[in-house]
Amino acid sequence: MSVVQSGSVLLSGGMVTTASRSRLAAVRLAGGRITEIGDLTPRPGEAVLGCHGCLILPGGIETHTHLDLEAMGTVTADDFASGTRSALAGGTTTVLDFATQFHGESLMDGLRRWHKKAGGQAVTDYGFHLAMTQWRPEFAGEMAEVVEAGVTSFKLYMAYRGSMMVQDDEIYAALSASSRLGATIGFHCENGLVIDALARQELARGHTGAFYHQYTRPPDLEREAAGRVTTIARLLDAQHYIVHLSAGETLEEVRRARRGGSKVVAETCPQYLLLDDSRYGTPDSGGSDKRDGIDDRNDSDELGVRAFVMSPPLRSAENLDALWAGLADGGIQFVGTDHCSFNLHGQKDQATDFASIPNGAPGVELRLALLYTYGVAGGRISPERFVAVTAENAARYFGLYPRKGTLLPGSDADIVVYDPGPAWTVSHDRLHDNVDHTPYEGFTIRGRVRDVFLRGHRVVADGVLAGDLAPGQFLACGPPDSDIS
Ligand code: URP
Ligand code: ZN
Ligand code: ZN
Repeated sequence: MSVVQSGSVLLSGGMVTTASRSRLAAVRLAGGRITEIGDLTPRPGEAVLGCHGCLILPGGIETHTHLDLEAMGTVTADDFASGTRSALAGGTTTVLDFATQFHGESLMDGLRRWHKKAGGQAVTDYGFHLAMTQWRPEFAGEMAEVVEAGVTSFKLYMAYRGSMMVQDDEIYAALSASSRLGATIGFHCENGLVIDALARQELARGHTGAFYHQYTRPPDLEREAAGRVTTIARLLDAQHYIVHLSAGETLEEVRRARRGGSKVVAETCPQYLLLDDSRYGTPDSGGSDKRDGIDDRNDSDELGVRAFVMSPPLRSAENLDALWAGLADGGIQFVGTDHCSFNLHGQKDQATDFASIPNGAPGVELRLALLYTYGVAGGRISPERFVAVTAENAARYFGLYPRKGTLLPGSDADIVVYDPGPAWTVSHDRLHDNVDHTPYEGFTIRGRVRDVFLRGHRVVADGVLAGDLAPGQFLACGPPDSDIS
């Protein structure tokens, strides 16, 4: 079966799994869409792909990447070509990336720049959020143009003082505008003013190592910022969401707000479900206050710690259980990876102190496999919930449902055939990204992405990513639907 299918294709004998049900059935694809699901028999000349023992899932929707992003004096290792190849190999067929408006640019300038980066390069279908690195009063009007152009979600940063952080009155103005437009805003919730003060204090003490990254960004500062933004949004009854939620106490804040009627939803990431702050070592291991920046850069322990420098940082182990519980019970609605890749060698190793290490980690390729392994096979979430948090809820929230995120006649034929049988160990050389490490090195994975279809084209066949991938399509997002759990 080649990448481009001319006639119809029948996927037979698999467990068809959506967010609402699982059933043994066959799925017929034709003309890039799903045409039928049920007890189907092959038609004369029809291509048949046996899926016995496998799950037939909607293609994954990744809600959070930073591809080809200029940040902290460098640019991410993955651009749209490599980042979306990696996504596709891992069963993600739609990527929502953060188009970013830089200081001085209009919102539409930022969006147009991102279209140039992604167009003809992305091999998944893709849409954008629009990240605003500042607030200017004219943005209230410009946001309408952005929504008109098919981008219905924005992002504001409550951290990164001096480069991206916005203040509470600006958050109020932005939420007023997005609420009038029926759009949403994702918030990076950390108290940037206090983080800045803590970081300056540690640097003044000569504490330069990567250990101090998490030390200066405690979970209280995420909870506080999340509480603040949900309070502001409640005044306006505005839709908003918490991006990359990392801490149990922040989740409690979100639960409280939702119980009180807030239209807030939450995204978390595999790193906050599976990795904890022991990765940062101690002040004396790797990121030591006994070393200065140059020595840190030549220290392999310090370099290992730098792999986990992301914001928010990894949390203590008890947070992981709290987030899994939230994922299972509807406290958290979807999982994106915050794939923001910087090489250890040549990028993260160049920084002279913890505050200037490029923030971010890769993960887009392993999202489904990690969630299946540690969620479904680990007994923490059902297969249906797995689909809800990796595909359907995102499709609903970002206005792509039912074209994406489910398996229904008429939906795009974006399908993953997941074989739960094999077990394998993550090693970076098996991945398709363009960065020099993975935070999940050595993790055991249960099952594999066996086949992937994007709008009916078989782009992964028996675990092998096709060489002749066609460009993905830009997806105009519709109004957000926060009625998801
Ligand atoms: O460390 C991170 N997460 N880098 C990417 C930018 C962001 O805050 O999402
Ligand atoms: Zn962020
Ligand atoms: Zn991010």
